[in-house]
Amino acid sequence: MYIHIPFCASKCDYCAFATWTDRDHLVDAYLDSLRIEIRSAVDAGMPEADTVFVGGGTPTLVRPSDLASVLSTVPVRAGAEVTVECNPDDVTPAHMEAYRSVGVNRVSLGMQSMSLDVLSALGRTHDPENVERAVATIVDSAMPSFNLDLIYGVAGESLSDWKQTVESALAFDPPHISAYGLTVEAGTPLAAQPDRHPDDDDQADKYELVDDMLTDAGLENYEVSNWSLPGHESVHNFLYWDQDDYRGFGCAAHSHRAGRRWWNVRTPDRYIELIARGDSVESAAETLDDSVRRREGLQLGLRTRHGVERSAFSEETLELLEGILVPHPGDPGRVVLTRRGRLMANDVSTRLVD
Ligand SMILES: C[S@@+](CC[C@H](N)C(=O)[O-])C[C@H]1O[C@@H](n2cnc3c(N)ncnc32)[C@H](O)[C@@H]1O
Ligand code: SF4
Repeated sequence: MYIHIPFCASKCDYCAFATWTDRDHLVDAYLDSLRIEIRSAVDAGMPEADTVFVGGGTPTLVRPSDLASVLSTVPVRAGAEVTVECNPDDVTPAHMEAYRSVGVNRVSLGMQSMSLDVLSALGRTHDPENVERAVATIVDSAMPSFNLDLIYGVAGESLSDWKQTVESALAFDPPHISAYGLTVEAGTPLAAQPDRHPDDDDQADKYELVDDMLTDAGLENYEVSNWSLPGHESVHNFLYWDQDDYRGFGCAAHSHRAGRRWWNVRTPDRYIELIARGDSVESAAETLDDSVRRREGLQLGLRTRHGVERSAFSEETLELLEGILVPHPGDPGRVVLTRRGRLMANDVSTRLVD
């Protein structure tokens, strides 16, 4: 289950997520609407969730007791992974206490960088001290697992800035790190300023550096942008990569069931209005045919350490991609990307057999 919280204190200029900075007056009505949408799915027979991910936007902007009250309406299987995305500015002991009281057992912190210059180039509102305070609060709350999100490749970030960020992240002993190359998303202010766009070769150098440093610290790469200690992989993310069923709640949330995908209306205003009227919040849907679904499954699998069946590539391609695709260490019938391959995952995907 995914629950979307579409509110932020300020908008980062690289971000294309469905989130607003001028809708605080809608927060209470939005949370009420979420409870209604969740309750009606439960009444319609929705099974207990194997994983729950509360993302945004900025879930920590919502009063912790209010978010806990939404989470308490969600039926979850015993032992389910329940994650809340947190911004470093907001994390307090009260947040962690309220989250723990309703079964949250993982938080994902939007750390991004430990360099003040890089954070300000990203347009972030937090500084390195916020990150230190937030991580200390998370650790003190005995949260069973946590992730740190990092971004590399913003204009002006040097390789040594990035090295210092990764060193600082590792000093927190995180069980999980997601490191994302800054992506230029269409329609964002960043997209309109080509002189600030990241450089592929610089991002490749930074990817190799973070992979070396995290691997040396015992964090294993299990998907192109994700590293974890054994047993701390994100179960929720694997559900997307394995093309399992998921149900999204809230505006702009996406759902998938057996090849049918649908998504809710994008704005919180419209979402609240439709729920109040008792109407469907579904905006549109698509049904994937088997070949498209299979192809997507291969593209997603290729990005993970599980890889794909060897037969997904022709023998000619396998020969051509020597050093990029190699046999899976535990299963000769599958192939996985090497690190060089991970740098070119999208290009390798275009060589999958039809
Ligand atoms: C849904 S966002 C929200 C998390 C939280 N609001 C925050 O920003 O700290 C989850 C993560 O996606 C990453 N992200 C968002 N936009 C990105 C972009 N254009 N390029 C690379 N990473 C991005 C950031 O690392 C962010 O922490
Ligand atoms: S990156 Fe996070 S904080 Fe920034 S606008 Fe997007 S969701 Fe909000």
